[in-house]
Amino acid sequence: MIKKYSIKKLLDQHNLFLNKKVIVEGWVRSFRNYMFISLNDGSTIKNIQIVVSSSEKLKKNFLKQITIGTSLHVIGIITNSIGKEQVIELQSDLIKIYGKVDHLLFQQSILQPKQHSLEKLRTQTHLRFRTKVFSCVMRIRHHIAFSIHKYFNENGFFYIHTPIITTSNAEGAGNMFQVTTLDLKHIPWTHDKIIDYQKDFFKCKTYLGVSGQLEAEAASLALGKVYTFGPVFRAENSNTSRHLSEFWMIEPEIAFYHLEENMNLAEEFLKYIIQYIIEHCVDDLYFLTNYMSKNEEQSLLKQLESLLTINFEKISYTESIDILNKSIHNNKVNFVHPVVWGMDLQSEHEQYLVNKYFKNPIIIFDYPCDIKAFYMKMNNDEKTVRAMDILFPKVGEIIGGSQREERYDILITRMKKHNINKQLLYWYLDTRRFGSVPHSGFGLGFDRLVQFISGMQNIRDVIPFPKTPNHAS
Ligand code: 4AD
Ligand code: MG
Repeated sequence: MIKKYSIKKLLDQHNLFLNKKVIVEGWVRSFRNYMFISLNDGSTIKNIQIVVSSSEKLKKNFLKQITIGTSLHVIGIITNSIGKEQVIELQSDLIKIYGKVDHLLFQQSILQPKQHSLEKLRTQTHLRFRTKVFSCVMRIRHHIAFSIHKYFNENGFFYIHTPIITTSNAEGAGNMFQVTTLDLKHIPWTHDKIIDYQKDFFKCKTYLGVSGQLEAEAASLALGKVYTFGPVFRAENSNTSRHLSEFWMIEPEIAFYHLEENMNLAEEFLKYIIQYIIEHCVDDLYFLTNYMSKNEEQSLLKQLESLLTINFEKISYTESIDILNKSIHNNKVNFVHPVVWGMDLQSEHEQYLVNKYFKNPIIIFDYPCDIKAFYMKMNNDEKTVRAMDILFPKVGEIIGGSQREERYDILITRMKKHNINKQLLYWYLDTRRFGSVPHSGFGLGFDRLVQFISGMQNIRDVIPFPKTPNHAS
């Protein structure tokens, strides 16, 4: 029986297949002189060349139906190619068309073989998978996700599925999308003229989760090392190149872990992923480097490799404020937002520190307690918490995390200060009453990591169907 192979397998292991009859299936990338078809099946950026046999060349009317985008089933023999472009080619015995392409629609589609802007590609998200650039990004995205599971599995972490629907809006990580089955045209009101959520699906107010951290903490306080990897939702009105309303986050949470260990884990973890991508996605990284070369001085591969050789600089929030103030003082830089201890670092400040001052990823720790979430562990100075953010070149904050407040009394005080409903979070507080332990974790923005590794300028170009303010279709 003749077997079917992916184009990647045929090209990678071409010696195995020489003079063998095989089946390949894919979409036409180009068709020259009724003779040479470039076929791609998505398994790799590379195409296989199909040489149309002399008997099939006679079927002119049939061949006329083969255009860019047509899907084909081809049986043929793998031979060495005399062309310079490829090592092997497929001498066709039989070509079958699965699906033809509508010429009129094609004229307006992004499949037309010319350079389209990434903005244009976004208007046809369902078709952009077929473009070289987007398929590269998608393959890299897959390998990053895989390497994340691989890393955790090799290091004794358990994958926990935290809920997407939640009743708590306590994390303070951004505005939430509400989940309801109430008929908005006939809202049920109580006697006190507030919405009667007893009539809603869950008999209470519910939201889409902004993070799985609090639930992951509960799991880690039994299983030791856990992680989540799922979609989260934030209804912030941020129209930037690094914000999505629906994005994917990875949140490891580790019992008996202090901030220092947490920072080291995050650095080792990021480097592991990058190393994995360098080893498994070279073709796609090369393509993306060429694609962007006009405004990139260094190849993507070199940038990633150099990141593996350096230690991420760790500086406290207070030190970072000092550096910013000194730089202003020495006329090295001007900021729109004034720099004062206690403020949230703005992206202009972060960019200066990462891109200009250190020129490398940095970890900033011990932030003022007033600008960070209630669950972060209070330092003895009672002004700062054991928070840490990792900032990367170009994409800025890629990781946010902390050691958690494990002391029940202090946690209660912090919740009061943040106006957080103790009743709703009784279960979270319970974890501090049944053998509480120091523990830590962080959240990695998956799409931002894909953006950094693939070198794409806009986060909307690294997720299949981006959701952003005013844009959900
Ligand atoms: O810093 P954040 O808000 O941290 C948390 O949610 C914690 N619960 C994490 C934890 O400690 N377990 O979000 C974590 C990361 C950010 O550093 C950023 O990379 C990414 O999520 N992120 C976004 N990515 C895309 N679009 C957005 N709107 C994002 N908001 C945050
Ligand atoms: Mg953050």
